[in-house]
Amino acid sequence: MSDSIVRRRLILVLHGPNLNLLGRREPGIYGSTTLDEIDQRLTDLASARGFEIVISQSNYEGALVDQIQRYGWVASGIIINPGALTHYSIALRDAIAAVPSPAIEVHLSNIAAREPFRHHSVISAVAGGTIAGLGSAGYELSLRYLMDAIDAEGEPTDE
Ligand code: DQA
Repeated sequence: MSDSIVRRRLILVLHGPNLNLLGRREPGIYGSTTLDEIDQRLTDLASARGFEIVISQSNYEGALVDQIQRYGWVASGIIINPGALTHYSIALRDAIAAVPSPAIEVHLSNIAAREPFRHHSVISAVAGGTIAGLGSAGYELSLRYLMDAIDAEGEPTDE
């Protein structure tokens, strides 16, 4: 039996530093959608397909690591926008690498087209995939991808 089969129909969504300010934080870059609006859409999408969703935002690296450790063995997947931690947090990278739940890295802005210090992500190498530059749609696409992947696994078998 593979590791993934025993995981719950549960998705963990993590938002890193300053993402609580969405809607009023540099709207020309990050858009006018608030974090509450994004979270509500994700909650609706997940519940329509029978998935639980746990969503946390923190400005603290350790709080994000704690959530990954807590849910990383039971969640079907993790969606994470690490904010600025993307570019330097080895602790976050190591937490994602430590757990079996696959993680999708999301950025509202296209980090490759911004300042050079944003071009490198220490998270990407341990993520199952990355979506950047599609605004809040990136979260929804990641959620659909993870739910589709779990549904495609089908019923548990002994094989
Ligand atoms: C961000 C990009 C990061 O470089 C930045 O520090 C953020 C948000 C994004 O969603 O585009 O806080 O992760």
